[in-house]
Amino acid sequence: MRKPILIANWKMNGSLHSNQALLVRILAKLRPLRKTIDMAICPPFPYLFQVRDLLGYTGLSLGAQNASVAASGAHTGEVSATMLREMGCRYVLVGHSERRALYHESDRDVAARFRQVLSAGMTPVLCVGETLGEREQGQTMATIERQLQAVIDETGMADLAASVIAYEPVWAIGTGRTATPEQVSETHRTIRQFLDGCQAGAGEALRIVYGGSVKASNAAALFQSPEVDGGLIGGASLQADEFSDIGAALASTLAEADCECDTLD
Ligand code: PGA
Repeated sequence: MRKPILIANWKMNGSLHSNQALLVRILAKLRPLRKTIDMAICPPFPYLFQVRDLLGYTGLSLGAQNASVAASGAHTGEVSATMLREMGCRYVLVGHSERRALYHESDRDVAARFRQVLSAGMTPVLCVGETLGEREQGQTMATIERQLQAVIDETGMADLAASVIAYEPVWAIGTGRTATPEQVSETHRTIRQFLDGCQAGAGEALRIVYGGSVKASNAAALFQSPEVDGGLIGGASLQADEFSDIGAALASTLAEADCECDTLD
């Protein structure tokens, strides 16, 4: 069974003071769930050290928001995967739509970053998703398959199978507009089918999380589908109560699944 995962993407937000206050409150509420769900916090680079210290041995993992395409050298302003690993990161986001759109990261760039993260011994969280125009033109899966195929071409299917995929429709990120549970479930299922077609069983084994305006009020409905293995949370991860309630909603869907299994037994 795939263990659910909840990932906080703080984007370019925070300060030494606010990070501490936020984490103390999040940890008090989410720490008890650590055996049920995996959790990771992805702060901006300068705060990795602080967040690593605050997470300590709580069972929540540290993550980063990107890694360089290169291993080391003359890349001013970049941060290598090996450095992130040394800082204690376990997960690294790659191909977030803001990186693709605002910083012009191509599918090939994303694949190169993915490879660096894996080579450094961390788990890439590969973000994929369509724009509104692509969805309206019926291009949702063509876009996602193109994004996945670039990574498969770079690293091979076995390596992609070792990652987490975050399905984030671009039109739902930070807009307050959420994909419906049916749209999410259907897209996740189609991604699994595509991956199963590349390597038997790969799609079934891999964790696929949803991201895009997830809030405490819609989390339970989004996580209800067995196709959805958790969430990548932006804005709501900056509010302790919201984020904790999203974690509780994720953990409780698992408890419900257990109950259903018990009843079936
Ligand atoms: P959002 O961001 O939850 O604020 O929509 C999600 C993301 O960008 O990962």
